[in-house]
Amino acid sequence: MAFLELRDIKTHFPVKKGLMIQRVTDTVKAVDGITLDIAQGEILGLVGESGCGKSTLSRTIMQLIPATSGSVLLEEQDLSALAPSEVRKRRLDFQMIFQDPYASLNPRMTVYSTLAEAVSQRHPGLKGAAMEKKITNLMETVGLDQRFMKKYPHEFSGGQRQRIAIARALAPEPKLIIADEPVSALDVSIQSQILNLLLELRKDLGLTMIFISHDLSVVRYIADNIAVMHKGTIVEYGEAEEVFNHAKHEYTKKLLQAIPRIQQSV
Ligand SMILES: Nc1ncnc2c1ncn2[C@@H]1O[C@H](COP(=O)(O)OP(=O)(O)OP(=O)(O)O)[C@@H](O)[C@H]1O
Ligand SMILES: [Mg+2]
Repeated sequence: MAFLELRDIKTHFPVKKGLMIQRVTDTVKAVDGITLDIAQGEILGLVGESGCGKSTLSRTIMQLIPATSGSVLLEEQDLSALAPSEVRKRRLDFQMIFQDPYASLNPRMTVYSTLAEAVSQRHPGLKGAAMEKKITNLMETVGLDQRFMKKYPHEFSGGQRQRIAIARALAPEPKLIIADEPVSALDVSIQSQILNLLLELRKDLGLTMIFISHDLSVVRYIADNIAVMHKGTIVEYGEAEEVFNHAKHEYTKKLLQAIPRIQQSV
């Protein structure tokens, strides 16, 4: 049994034209028939160029946008068939990490209040020493000094901010993390620190991850399996090293050629 099963997922967007009377003139097939199994504890690397549908697929998995057709099964439960209130509860099991931690963190909230809000989603009413203990643990897990608890996002470096965003994602005790280009905005030296942190979290917490990137060398470093996405479909799928060293599809070969030599050591 796979932990997460994607069954022929299609997410199409209607394109509307007209000022007074809007007519659907076309459809963007952002995700167009994706079937994939992801095992418990696996890191799946999802790679492809801008606009190929990576973020749309992740939002569809999280039930943030409805699939046009197909289904998402998490531990054999069909999420597409759940009532909205059930989806909200189940969504705690999925958390996301984004490319730009500065944009995704509230600038007016301290690390403490950001993390307390996220912890409360799973543990409503938790306060005082018990809450503080949870937050201290979270900060330790992502390698942040607990003395920074009362600081604001602008007081941190980019890498530290991404650690706060990761702690916030971990706070509701998720089973699956979807990381959408989590290191693309960071310096190369910081990138590997964050990648190593994600690898540690998988080992220590048994997390399953979907790691999205346009950069095959980053995905190769972290992923067990790689799915190469092109125009809404998966054109190549396999074990990370296999895809990297013996790409079969022309599009994957093109992505490989696009990797700058200097980055191949990441
Ligand atoms: N809400 C929407 N309405 C209409 N079209 C959309 C919507 N969201 C995404 N699209 C289109 O769907 C396609 C896939 O977009 P998506 O953001 O999923 O790509 P991506 O692979 O994540 O790209 P990037 O690497 O730039 O983040 C694009 O053509 C985009 O313009
Ligand atoms: Mg995207």
